[in-house]
Amino acid sequence: MEIDEAYKGREHSLIKHELLKGYLEKLLSIIGVSGGSREIVYVDCFAGPWGTDSESLAGTSIAISLDIISHVREMLANKHGMTGVRFKAIYVEKSKRSHKRLTTYLSGNCPDGITCHALQGDYADLQDEILQLCGDNSFAFFFVDPKGWTDVSVNKLSKLLRRPRSEFLINFMYDFLNRAIGMPDFRHQVQKSLGELTEGDLQRLSAMSAKDRGEAVVRMYREQLKADMGPDGNYPARSYHAEILNKDKERTHYHLVYLTRHHKGIVKFAESSQDADFIQRVVRIQTRQNAKEQMPLFSAEDEAESQDSSKASIDDVKAYWLNQLSGEPVRFDEARLADMLEETGWLIRDFEVAMADLISELKVENLDAAGKRTKHPVHFDKGERLRRCV
Ligand SMILES: C[S@@+](CC[C@H](N)C(=O)[O-])C[C@H]1O[C@@H](n2cnc3c(N)ncnc32)[C@H](O)[C@@H]1O
Repeated sequence: MEIDEAYKGREHSLIKHELLKGYLEKLLSIIGVSGGSREIVYVDCFAGPWGTDSESLAGTSIAISLDIISHVREMLANKHGMTGVRFKAIYVEKSKRSHKRLTTYLSGNCPDGITCHALQGDYADLQDEILQLCGDNSFAFFFVDPKGWTDVSVNKLSKLLRRPRSEFLINFMYDFLNRAIGMPDFRHQVQKSLGELTEGDLQRLSAMSAKDRGEAVVRMYREQLKADMGPDGNYPARSYHAEILNKDKERTHYHLVYLTRHHKGIVKFAESSQDADFIQRVVRIQTRQNAKEQMPLFSAEDEAESQDSSKASIDDVKAYWLNQLSGEPVRFDEARLADMLEETGWLIRDFEVAMADLISELKVENLDAAGKRTKHPVHFDKGERLRRCV
């Protein structure tokens, strides 16, 4: 795999952008085709440009988002004859210098059919203006990508979080927050993201392994966000997260926290996370191979394919499945899959591999599957019924 020059030395941004691209395209296509919203708005709360001097802004969320929106708009028109959906892109940047670059770029590169706005200032102070630009009836996706963790404390995001018909992708700079958790001077600030922490909570966190602590902390943050976001009618706030590793070390650099009020969002975001997870492994292997002089035996892709990429042991996933089942048929649809993904944080593939095993061991049967299916043993989009045989 050739790593684009724009990402050399900041490979974690490549994974972040792959996930943004993959999910945004799915989301805009689904919302567009469903015809449920006449207007779709993309909001980049920490737009930049950042990390590049090039005029093309290659490798920035600005160029990437406009490209995806434009592509989806054309797909809707050409494939579905849908020309009535309006698209708006709002970019917010605090630094005057970067905002000037942003405005210059947009004045020459905002594609046809998309209305572009560039606001200058702190996104938290501009929330009313952002919401006004979004309008009342549009569907909005917010990309929130700060450099530090204090800018995305729950109280700062509140007004945006409460907007109905909205989804969020928030870069939660875990590595930085993790260093601050035990420091008394930062206690107040940390609690704005994680909620009230007792001495007992802090002791429990510090006794955990690095991996468990990372998981526990991001879950606390997710819970705070969901509580503030609240439901949309009968649809509760839901969340999931993807882990982005430090480019050199085997530890979390940040989490990309996703929020929605629709179960389909969780399923589609988990699919995109799974794809980005593979790319993350390829990029890490490729970076290692590039640093060595001798030719590698296998390509980075082949080596990544052969790695165990599951988020949990297959025995744990099988035990989880069996717990969900009984001798009576149970329907597994996308809402149920979203519950399972949210609860465990595992990948869809983890559930599929474990279920394929259970079926071949005759411990479970899929009452709606005509033949043997190894890759996708349950079609959640069809709400297939499973029954425990033992
Ligand atoms: C990590 S960079 C954004 C990278 C960009 N989203 C991308 O993926 O290409 C963060 C940007 O947010 C800007 N910024 C920092 N604090 C901000 C705030 N409170 N409101 C809006 N922008 C802010 C910084 O100047 C910087 O350009």
